[in-house]
Amino acid sequence: MTLSLRRLALAAALGVTPFAAWWAAAEETRVTFPDLDALIHYTTVTRGNVVEHIMTTQEALDAVQAGQPIPDGTHVVLVDYRDGSDEVYRYFVMQKGAGWGEDFDDRRRTGDWQFQFYWGDRRVNMDENTARCQRCHQSREGSDYLYTYNDMRRFGQ
Ligand code: HEC
Repeated sequence: MTLSLRRLALAAALGVTPFAAWWAAAEETRVTFPDLDALIHYTTVTRGNVVEHIMTTQEALDAVQAGQPIPDGTHVVLVDYRDGSDEVYRYFVMQKGAGWGEDFDDRRRTGDWQFQFYWGDRRVNMDENTARCQRCHQSREGSDYLYTYNDMRRFGQ
């Protein structure tokens, strides 16, 4: 991991250590990049020039349709294509793991889900702080922190 000169200069100007400044803006989480071929594309959301393919495992779809909790280990992935290109712009990934919510305090926690933002070349976007993802998805607590929970319920029915 390299620190950009701009970030170092900014940290110096603010009088904080470079590492503290870096960690405040970016982080690794427990999320791993998914095996996309193993996932089912269950819904598509279009927003202006952005087309989002949203996918998860067959096991997660089965669980949701049976009214059961989504299993630990599940990935949910939003694949973001832009301007008609068939190259991926970015991947938004959520992954659930036993006890993973304990990494965060209650104000930030989203059940046992963690989040990550990958660019199209699958590098983590180190300028993202995934607390931002969690703050928004917290409003979906009633549907396991997912916006497209009902699409999972209806898929293939
Ligand atoms: C401002 C609110 C907001 C923020 C911030 C946000 N999301 Fe979402 N997310 C949504 C909405 C709304 C959807 C449903 C798809 C749509 O409408 O575009 C969604 C959908 C998703 C999905 C598909 C599963 C689902 O919930 O339907 C994933 C995965 C996801 N977001 C990951 C992320 C990640 C990773 C971040 C941070 C890098 C993030 N989100 C930040 C609002 C947000």
